[in-house]
Amino acid sequence: MKKYLLALVFLTASAVGFEQEAFPVIPLPNSIETKTGRFVFTNCTQLHYNITDTDVRNAVMPLIEKLRLVAGITLYQKPKCKTPSMVEIAIDKSIVNDEGYVLSVSPQKILLKAKTTAGIFYGAQTLLQLLPDAIEKGSFQKNISWSIPCVVIKDEPRFSYRGIMLDVARHYMPMAFLKKLIDLLAMQKMNRLHLHLTDSQGWRFECKKYPKLTEIGAYRKGTPLNTTYDYNSRPNDTLYGGYYTQEQLKELVRYASAHFITIVPEIEMPAHSMSALASYPELACLDSNGNAFPYPQQIQNEYCTKDETFTFLDNVLSEVMDVFPSKYIHIAGDEASKENWAHCRFDQQRMKEEGLKNVDELQSYFIKRIEKFVNSRGRSVIGWDEILQGGLAPNATVMSWTGIEGGITAAEQHHNVIMTPAEYCYFNFYQSGSPGEPVAFCCMLTLPKVYSYDPIPDVLKPDERRYVLGTQGNLWTEYVPTYQNAEYMIFPRAVALAEVGWTNTALKQYEGFRTRLIKYLKRLDDHHVNYSRHLFEIKLTTSLNEEKQVTASLAGVDKEYAIRYTLDGTGPTDRSPVYAQPVIIEKNATMTAAVLQDGIVLAQLKKDFRLHKAVGKAAVLATPPDEKYNTGGNNAWVNGCLGNDEQFSDDEWLGWNGKEFNGTIDFGNATVTSSLQTRFFHKPNSWIWAAKKVTAQVSDDGKIFRTVAEKEVPVPSNDGAVPFSMSWQPVTARYMRIIAGPVEKIPAGNPGAGNGAWLFVDEMVVN
Ligand code: ACM
Repeated sequence: MKKYLLALVFLTASAVGFEQEAFPVIPLPNSIETKTGRFVFTNCTQLHYNITDTDVRNAVMPLIEKLRLVAGITLYQKPKCKTPSMVEIAIDKSIVNDEGYVLSVSPQKILLKAKTTAGIFYGAQTLLQLLPDAIEKGSFQKNISWSIPCVVIKDEPRFSYRGIMLDVARHYMPMAFLKKLIDLLAMQKMNRLHLHLTDSQGWRFECKKYPKLTEIGAYRKGTPLNTTYDYNSRPNDTLYGGYYTQEQLKELVRYASAHFITIVPEIEMPAHSMSALASYPELACLDSNGNAFPYPQQIQNEYCTKDETFTFLDNVLSEVMDVFPSKYIHIAGDEASKENWAHCRFDQQRMKEEGLKNVDELQSYFIKRIEKFVNSRGRSVIGWDEILQGGLAPNATVMSWTGIEGGITAAEQHHNVIMTPAEYCYFNFYQSGSPGEPVAFCCMLTLPKVYSYDPIPDVLKPDERRYVLGTQGNLWTEYVPTYQNAEYMIFPRAVALAEVGWTNTALKQYEGFRTRLIKYLKRLDDHHVNYSRHLFEIKLTTSLNEEKQVTASLAGVDKEYAIRYTLDGTGPTDRSPVYAQPVIIEKNATMTAAVLQDGIVLAQLKKDFRLHKAVGKAAVLATPPDEKYNTGGNNAWVNGCLGNDEQFSDDEWLGWNGKEFNGTIDFGNATVTSSLQTRFFHKPNSWIWAAKKVTAQVSDDGKIFRTVAEKEVPVPSNDGAVPFSMSWQPVTARYMRIIAGPVEKIPAGNPGAGNGAWLFVDEMVVN
């Protein structure tokens, strides 16, 4: 087992090494000083705290309850033992951080001190993680020694805001799941659950003054049973939806508060509001013909900026603030196209009256007016980074999602910021290129990438850094129809983000985190969490060996988890060969590799290899691919390995934005060719379109090329990898050029209409 040397940056400047398996705490505490011996919990263990302080007892309740239920140990009875051991809990105002704690464990005594009950709660969570995993089992467990190693832990979070956002608007999530999520976030010392309560596809907050919001806005006609963005395709137009009553939400707030979690409610405005506008159409902008926009197709339609809208939103927000005590009320502000404002006579009138030059300034007016109301009730607003457009409202906190720039701009203006850039924090992105992944949103966000995130942008000056309150992982649920899917997308990425939000950068190290996470997964098992197992993922890289043969190298998580593989497309079993060295691909093959444990597939990978005439030949691209989509290198189109059937964001697909594919192969000597096979990715919702036309040219000198074949590609009827092939009379030449022309402009009526499309190209199989 490896040892990891950790620098201590908390209070002491010393360094200590410890085995991460012996202290499998997540998030990693900021200072661990190991001692010898163990403390054993028994029925002789006495709990000491200031008896009048019920809040302190409540903060250690998870420990008391789990010990009682699972270990059969009743901590707070006075034991009749001669030499009782003791757990002492004390408030200590000398501890600086509001959420910090000091935990000192010796063989006879545990002392847990914190400035506030939040710190006590977090110290108790650390104690629970030091106990055997079985403590999370939820029922009595026999024959376990309930002991923990002696240690002094001095700990405090790096950031005060450590959150997860769940979109309950696109898909309604049951209340029991929200409570389960709270349990799990609390185990990781996260302290915010941001609920995206309204969007065009559903209004989930009961509003007493406006009952139609839930009578009409909480239900839509049809939604697919499984995945997809198309909300209209459920058979028979079955109504889909649901909402939370205020009583249910108040109960949820109480439950969260007992776990030291604040629920941050979000009410979308001015866009993403079709569910409200379907309920109260008088608040909508009218289209250029004076008609309302249909529901729910126009997913980003805005409220009209007339006074009635502000009265409505003030009333809605009043009820929201009555239910949710959170200091922060999220008022969104994202992705308003504002197109309707440019046509609607009420909005034009508003701009004239207020002297606003453009629709960005109208949006800023909107947000500032709402902020003023929220501030008048003693609360503060959070908005997505678009609220910077047209000028930031005076006291607003910015949630930076489109990148880190919004967060930087806001911090430079001395506004608080929560960093949640999609690239690191969007849990609706794929987490793996494994076969059978549930359909997800556009891009790839792996566990190590989440872990690598540092919420403080380098460019911020020291005095600006304090405006970064923390970070949050966001799960949008367009493609997440059930809570089981939600768990799959959130875990374990949320566990990695918990460490990002808590542990100082100098101590973070992915290998150590992974060691602790593998143990932590047992606890998630005991909570019946449907987490994804990509942690055990296999990475395949292809290369050419000295003989120019295609070679596949596999890397896994650890030697303990052997990789087995086949080359015939069948799933590996316990009898398949164990991967030991790079595999030479001698003919067309489908490699399937897996990590198996007790017959369960922990990870699986499937790759198709096609050996053809261009593999390993010198190849150049006239225009390099976009740097986000060239992870397999610029030769990925002639490396013999095909891309993922379902996702374009793996190492084998190359992507260009608004540009053509133009690649030239030098076969080295005159070579006969007669066909080309390839695939384009097609996913109009993500602005990705298959090529329009493919041309193959050959040349003898690499200068003068002649066209040998040209073929139009019909617009595909389905999303995904679109096969393409063409052939020609055999021709002999040394060079070949392949040009795949993009769809120049995304056609009207599609997302991103008028913009250049993305073009994604797979292997160019030349024979
Ligand atoms: C967002 O993803 N529209 C905040």
